[in-house]
Amino acid sequence: MIKKVVNYDGYDYDYTKYWKDREYENNAEHLVLDKFLKDKHGSWFIDIGGSYGRLADTYANKFDRCIVLDYSLKTLKKNLHIVKEKFPNVTFIAANAYKMPFRPNSFDGGLMVRVLHHIERQEEYFNELTRILKDDSIYIQEFANKIHLKARIRALLKRDKALLSKEPLQQPTINMEGSRDGDVSFLNYHPQYIKEILETCNIEVKDRQGCSFFRIPLFKKILGANLLTLLEEIFQKLLPNSNIPPSIFLKTEIDKDDEEETSYETLQQILVCPMCKSSLAFGENKAICDNCHKEYIKDDNIWDFRVE
Ligand SMILES: C[S@@+](CC[C@H](N)C(=O)[O-])C[C@H]1O[C@@H](n2cnc3c(N)ncnc32)[C@H](O)[C@@H]1O
Ligand SMILES: [Zn+2]
Repeated sequence: MIKKVVNYDGYDYDYTKYWKDREYENNAEHLVLDKFLKDKHGSWFIDIGGSYGRLADTYANKFDRCIVLDYSLKTLKKNLHIVKEKFPNVTFIAANAYKMPFRPNSFDGGLMVRVLHHIERQEEYFNELTRILKDDSIYIQEFANKIHLKARIRALLKRDKALLSKEPLQQPTINMEGSRDGDVSFLNYHPQYIKEILETCNIEVKDRQGCSFFRIPLFKKILGANLLTLLEEIFQKLLPNSNIPPSIFLKTEIDKDDEEETSYETLQQILVCPMCKSSLAFGENKAICDNCHKEYIKDDNIWDFRVE
């Protein structure tokens, strides 16, 4: 059974609160993204499932026009003015990662962090992703690592064989991140599974970095965020390829040969109908698909292109 798209709106889940006491994890992820995006620049960049724009500071000064795409319109509405103040070149768009409202070859770069656990049909998502990214563009994919050290010890103690298989592992979902009663996916992945699926979709892995080596409550309590961040930096350098940490980042490059030269200046030029990918006729706060005639609304400066 295909699970529904996770809807943080429906459960009134405030994701900004999740990060209030997670300074160390936030720093650890910024370390990786700063390394992978060093010397990168370009025109359009997309942060898929970007929520309230937590990671905007890693790309918004490098790319001319950036989009934070998320299914949670409430989160986008609440946080747009905060991000806009710091980064006027960032636009928020409500849409579904499986059905994105952009022309082929629109973006020079993109990332997805802490979202793939909600993506049940990974191949479908990666094919949609490669459609909107240009040939040779950079894409950073983070995923929750199924075989991290704590999980291996736990599995050993419980004699649980689930870790031996490459299949994604569904985690308990009660009251976590906008889900309830297992109604949405919350998947941890075997690194080999992700590698194979990326290869199938012509996404070439160029670099790899384990992240959040010290995501253990006791460490955080005793050592504090600053010291842990320092240790994290050392461990990231020493053990980039390790499967010890719970989170893995892949720096990838899109490889496609159907490249048509594109150079889009404005948002309206890259937007299409997310359902049938046809052009849109724009009114002031409305867009209608030329082909299927579906109507989309812009509310509080945020386009709502959410379709299932
Ligand atoms: C755990 S949060 C991560 C947010 C952000 N990437 C970060 O690391 O701070 C997951 C986000 O993914 C979004 N999401 C999940 N499935 C999605 C989908 N199919 N399309 C768009 N957004 C999705 C949720 O709305 C939520 O904001
Ligand atoms: Zn259409």
